[in-house]
Amino acid sequence: MAKKTTDTTERTESSTNDVILRAPAEVKYAVELEALRQNDTGEKPAAWLLTPKAVLTYIVGSKTPLKATINGKAESVTITRKFFGDDSIVERSIVTLASERALLLVGEPGTGKSWLSEHLAAAISGCSTLTIQGTAGTTEEQIKYSWNIARIIAEGPKPEAMVPSPCMIAMRTGALFRFEEITRCVGDVQDALVSICSDKTIAVPELPDSNMVFAKPGFNIIATANSRDQGVNELSAALRRRFNYIYIPVVSDQKTEVEIVRTRSAELLERYKIPARVEEPVLQLLATVFREMRDGVTAEGVNVQKPSTTLSTAEAIGVAVESAIYSRYFGNGTVTTADIARNMVGSIVKEDLADLKVLKEYISLVAKKRGASDKGWKAFHDAAAKELA
Ligand SMILES: Nc1ncnc2c1ncn2[C@@H]1O[C@H](COP(=O)(O)OP(=O)(O)OP(=O)(O)O)[C@@H](O)[C@H]1O
Ligand SMILES: [Mg+2]
Repeated sequence: MAKKTTDTTERTESSTNDVILRAPAEVKYAVELEALRQNDTGEKPAAWLLTPKAVLTYIVGSKTPLKATINGKAESVTITRKFFGDDSIVERSIVTLASERALLLVGEPGTGKSWLSEHLAAAISGCSTLTIQGTAGTTEEQIKYSWNIARIIAEGPKPEAMVPSPCMIAMRTGALFRFEEITRCVGDVQDALVSICSDKTIAVPELPDSNMVFAKPGFNIIATANSRDQGVNELSAALRRRFNYIYIPVVSDQKTEVEIVRTRSAELLERYKIPARVEEPVLQLLATVFREMRDGVTAEGVNVQKPSTTLSTAEAIGVAVESAIYSRYFGNGTVTTADIARNMVGSIVKEDLADLKVLKEYISLVAKKRGASDKGWKAFHDAAAKELA
């Protein structure tokens, strides 16, 4: 019996050993990055792996496939679009990163700030994992360096006993350092970045002989901040001057939002090996509900109440993916508008129970009326009404 248990454990471990749930962008899109590198002829900023133009192409995609030799074979590689929206946002971000100033991507939750920052780091430095996630508990050591206490006790303060932070590694290697949700950190901790931003150094007073770490060319910082989090305006004045702010808006046109939800939900479903697809009319309905509730006005010009939750594109992707998983395991594999209705309630009614009323109003005013002449809207209305009853 004991033997059998061991066998099962071994089988489970070996079958998942080489599988990563979410590969970083530089691994997932390695072929695209390599094709861009082979076709990249312009001048690059110091230590960048690609020229600014090639970085832009990597992020906004290209209609013409690139010819490249991948693993010894001639291939034609299509560069897919990663970030949807205004290309000038990406251009301005790239320009900032090539300058002295650090970049702060700021905007509503779920607008693709972390996503854009990951792809910028992957394309520019070939590494998107030199990252820290800001929280109320983030300490200055996590931004600068800490010590391996056992080695300090045994050998005293030596450079080898230092544990560098992702920021220090980025400085030493001339790479991009990502600071997620910077405004969640308390002011003192944020201020640890001031000298890093202006002097491009970290002082290590504990080491008498090598007490300075200098940044190599190519080092810069991409931070993200959520405009809904408290404290976003409290980024210290000293830091504010050292960052270029780029505002990432919520996608407002339906065509782009449908495209984001279609592309990202297909990628996520592939990751979970779910062979379900969300068809176009269902995606259109999902995007319509999100846009109308977010704007507080319908296509026919009827005013509706807005929920307090941000109805972000990321939420819409979540609803599409959950609906597909639902229909795969509990339905017939085809995502219907009724599946969307069932999975939508939780993402709209999140922060405030009063949003339940807001959603009910939309269902009974807007969805019901459209359901009289449209089968998709009728199924959506009926399932949502049942869910909310
Ligand atoms: N404009 C966009 N282009 C491409 N993907 C997008 C866009 N907006 C949102 N997404 C998708 O939404 C998901 C969430 O995005 P991300 O985590 O980057 O949001 P965020 O702005 O960092 O949110 P938060 O403020 O909550 O951290 C990702 O899967 C991302 O691909
Ligand atoms: Mg984020």
